[in-house]
Amino acid sequence: MIKLAIMGAMEEEIEPLLAHFENVKVTEFANNKYYELTYNGLEIVVAYSKIGKVFASLTAATMIEKFGCDTLLFSGVAGGINPTLKIGDLIIADKLCQHDLDITAFGHPNGFVPGGSVFVETSKHLRQVAFEVANENKISVIEGTIATGDQFVHSEERKNFIEQTFKADALEMEGASVAVVCDALNVPFFILRAISDTADMDAGFDFDEFLKSSAKTSADYLIKIVDKLNN
Ligand code: ADE
Repeated sequence: MIKLAIMGAMEEEIEPLLAHFENVKVTEFANNKYYELTYNGLEIVVAYSKIGKVFASLTAATMIEKFGCDTLLFSGVAGGINPTLKIGDLIIADKLCQHDLDITAFGHPNGFVPGGSVFVETSKHLRQVAFEVANENKISVIEGTIATGDQFVHSEERKNFIEQTFKADALEMEGASVAVVCDALNVPFFILRAISDTADMDAGFDFDEFLKSSAKTSADYLIKIVDKLNN
């Protein structure tokens, strides 16, 4: 039986998940709360990491190493880059990169450091399950590249750089760091995001307006995926 980690970055991203589960035991560790529960016979640990790559790495590693999770699902919101992605639309990452990792001064490509790789791929199996769920429920979702960095992107200039450099479809602030941790620890993982803004001049305003609704869109779909994992 799998032990599932379900992660978000912000409280708003996991709140609709926690609302769905009952009998949650809260454990505090490393300045964070971990919500342990069983659901349809599945052991699940839910947590939000706080924003950014460092906090997300800490939480992913903790869920795997301390809580013994062997599969990780991430749910949250992202800024859209691909023009077909509108606010509220869903994207599943097939691979992720760190758009702000830069040692180009030494002749390396953007997003690369020795010993690593520009892109980290997500679990094909988990993506397959997610697409089955989408088909069965007539949920519209695309698969694409997600770029991660410790910046809230709100300019055409930065957005264009990320689009052109990595051919990314969406951007956010945690996914690739979770990917690096899961890949290193051999834990299959899945990154789902719903669009809250399009990383342009209006991004701050749109994010505040659509964080909750897009977080819920992502969480509702994620719960359906969890239901499928257990069948
Ligand atoms: N998450 C949602 N919108 C974002 C943006 N514009 N930049 C970074 N992370 C985000």
